[in-house]
This record gives sequence, C-alpha cells and structure tokens, in this order.
Amino acid sequence: MTDHLQARQSDVTVDVPLHVDRAGALPVVQQVSTQLRAAILKGQLRPGTRLPSTRTLARVLGISRGAVVTAYDDLLAAGYLVGRVGAGTYVSPELPPTPAVSSGAPPLEGRPRWLRGPLVTPDVAPSRTDEAVIDFRVGQPTVAKLSDAAWKRAWRRVAEEALPGAYADAAGDPELRAEIAAYLRRSRGVVCDPDDVLVTSGAIQGLHLVARAVLAPGDVAAFEDPGYRLARQVLRERGARILPIPVDADGLRVTELPTGPDAPPLVYTTPSHQFPLGSRLSLPRRHALLAWARTQDSLIVEDDYDGEFRYDAAPLPALASLDPARVVYLGTFSKVLSPALRVGYVVAPHVLRERLAALKTIADYHTSWPVQRVLTHFLRSGDLERHLGRMRRLYARKREVLVRELDGARPVARVGGLEAGFHVHLELDGRLSAAEVARWAEERGVRVSVLSPFYAAGSAPDGLVLGYGGLEPAQMVQGARVLVEVMNSLAAAAAS
Ligand SMILES: Cc1ncc(COP(=O)(O)O)c(C=O)c1O
Repeated sequence: MTDHLQARQSDVTVDVPLHVDRAGALPVVQQVSTQLRAAILKGQLRPGTRLPSTRTLARVLGISRGAVVTAYDDLLAAGYLVGRVGAGTYVSPELPPTPAVSSGAPPLEGRPRWLRGPLVTPDVAPSRTDEAVIDFRVGQPTVAKLSDAAWKRAWRRVAEEALPGAYADAAGDPELRAEIAAYLRRSRGVVCDPDDVLVTSGAIQGLHLVARAVLAPGDVAAFEDPGYRLARQVLRERGARILPIPVDADGLRVTELPTGPDAPPLVYTTPSHQFPLGSRLSLPRRHALLAWARTQDSLIVEDDYDGEFRYDAAPLPALASLDPARVVYLGTFSKVLSPALRVGYVVAPHVLRERLAALKTIADYHTSWPVQRVLTHFLRSGDLERHLGRMRRLYARKREVLVRELDGARPVARVGGLEAGFHVHLELDGRLSAAEVARWAEERGVRVSVLSPFYAAGSAPDGLVLGYGGLEPAQMVQGARVLVEVMNSLAAAAAS
C-alpha cells in the first residue's frame, strides 16, 4: 500500500510518499526504515521534522504498529531520529543540511581536488556476453562439466562448519594449504610444506603481493614479450619499468636478459605454456634461466596458470621444483575450476614468506574463508583431480578437432602452442592482416583476439589467439569453419 506520510503538526507538514509491499522481498520493517532514511538523506524530511506517531503511521500504511515501532527504533539507534517513541519522534537536528540534489544531476562541478590522475582501465579483454557471437575467448575453462553432486557435497560440508567469529589466518586456511602442498607435489613436482603456501585471491593478487614485496618504483622488471597484459599492468602500477624480453618456440629468450649492473631484480615468465604464444620453456633454457637468476641474484616469477593441462608432451619440471630459493611460483584455481572463485596461491622462497603474509593482511586480511573451505573439501575428496582428468580428456578432444578444422587454412595460417592449456596461437603469413581477419570474422559472428596488444615492444607479428576452453565443441567447429573461410577468402583477394 502506498500513502503519504502526511501529518499536520503545529509547526510542520510532512509529505513523503511511502510504499509498503507486503509481498515484497524485503520485510515490511526494512521497507519503512529504508524509505524514511532515504527521505532524510535526500532532504525531503528536514532536520527537526516531527514524524507522525507510530499508531497513526501504522494505520495509514495498514501495517502493524510493532513494525513501525521497530523501524523507528532502528533509525533512532542509527542516529537519524531523536526522541522517545511515544513522546514524539523527530528527524535528528544534528544531521548536516542536505542540499536538494535532483537525481541524475552531477553532484560536483569540475574535477574535485582528490580525483587524481587518469582513469586506469584494466588491460583485459572486455567481457561481452552477446549470445549471437561465437567467442574464442582466451582463459575461459569449461565449467559445465563440473560434477554438480561433487560440488554441492563440498558446499554442504562447509555449511555444516561453524563460521569463524574472527579473521582467519592471513596465509590461508591451514588445511587448504596442506591440500595444495600435497597437490603441487603430486601434479607439478613442487616439493613444499603447507607453511610454504600462501593462499591468495587469484594468481593476479599473488603477483601484486610479490611486486609490492620485491620492487621499488623505478625498478626494472623483465617481462616476456608477448605476455599476459594484466600481469604487466600490475608491475607497471607498482612503478616498475618493463623490460620486454622476446619469446620464441623454446619460450623466453634467456640470453637476452641483461647481466651485471643492468640485471633486473625480477623476471616474470609462463614456462609451462607461454602466454599467449603457447610455447614451453625448454629444459636447457630452464636451467639457463635459473643460472642467470643465481649469478645475478634475481628473482623469477613462474606463473603456472594452466600447467595442469598438458597433452602428448612429456612434463617439464616446474622452475620452482628445480630451485625453490630463486623462484616464486604462482598457481590458480581459475583454469582448473573457475576464474570466478578468485583463489590462487603463491609458493615463495623462505625469505619472502613473512613479508607476503603481512602484505596479504594489509590487502584484504585473507581470502574468503568459506571459499577456501570448499576447495579444501573438493581437493581432499579427490574430486578436483577427477574433474581435472575429465577436463584434460575434453580439452584434448576439442584441441584435436580445432586443429583439424584450422588445417583448412593452411598455408596462410599455422596453428601453434598446442602442447598445453586451452588456447592456441594462429600465426598468419604475410598475405593476411590479423586485424582484418578479426574484423571480418566478427562480421560473421565469430570473435577472436588479435596478437599485437599482447606485445609491449615495437612491432608485433600478425597473429591471432584462440581460446577454446569455454566453447561447446559444435560451436567451436562452426566458429573455426567461419574463420577458415574468412582467412582463405582474404588470402585469395590479396593474391588477385
Ligand atoms: C597467464 C595468466 N596468468 C594468470 C591469470 C589469472 O589468474 P587468476 O584468475 O588466478 O588471477 C591468467 C588469466 O587468464 C593468465 O592468463
């Protein structure tokens, strides 16, 4: 029921529309208190205004007097109202006068003094969800194949646990850290104790913490080129100067890392599956990189974002398993489960551990406790590894089909980066422009990423990056066929 809060008192008239919906999602008490508070804040109810009695308002709105008393009590407790229920209730005269601002009007003229610097836009692909488009979005896993029963079972276990009344451990839930340590040993050969693991809100937060702990503004950070743009932006935001290091079929070109006084204190790399080109850092280069870090006294950040997914290629040892004193290992549940979980982990050299935990507290105390607990149960039950097994088989099949389809565009386009993960790199020959292919494909309802924005340095080769994790196989085939047609017709047009 809607009515006007209308009471003709000796000194003031109150006229504020109130609306109570008994079937609404909010309890009636909350509906009344929220609307009164909004009216006070907007200046519709001025300081000192007397409110109608609870009895009157209850009658007018057709609700119980008790509900109005509780709403008034809430606003009294919050300081919006003063007085005693029964002896007159007033809008607090202490509230600062609120200018009547018409909604939609800009609240401030010009740029306020505290609004500093330009808007920093995140260096990520915009998340567009237009159904009509087949989107070869990079970095998106398949979540549809997650066992509903297993996932719900893990959450039910969490629901049975008592919610802690205090902040939890900054480094992460001890049981989850133990599960992650055991998992890393089994799956990645990284030998570490639970105490070595710090749970973070995604790998990207792990990098934030490391950058904060290790770099001072103005320091140089070596970064593979092309590379993961958001990680590069994190280092830049810390004030680091990025030194792009080229990548080839064997991964980061280690010999291009400066030595001596110019050696950067930190190098970031994705050795299991170079992002975005897809190559793996060869074993000799792994050893060379570690030797460089040892002689230059530098730190390697190993971003192992999708190292769990490897196909018909022998696993190469994680850098962290070869020299844990020189390597910060960043892991994540974003690819094995979902990026929406926002859970990752860091395994850092001992000297960094305490600093990272302190920085984690400063950042957000710790990662959400229930989410950490659900992962603990999911790992402990073996459900994560069962899911991973299914996903590996699924991605392997999808990858095979995708490669077969894209083969139709040879020789103008060559697929690379196939040994791991769930994205591939499409190298285009001189006849094709990546931007043009992407534009024509988009016209026909297929979205792909152009390679050049992943580069920090000068000229970039023409190429595309295709993520296939999140696409249904049939969609993927349809999208690949369109792409092949586009590439072949552009190549034919260029030749004629
Ligand atoms: C190379 C690389 N590292 C890290 C991440 C992000 O991981 P998280 O979601 O755990 O922050 C991504 C996400 O796409 C990535 O591609």
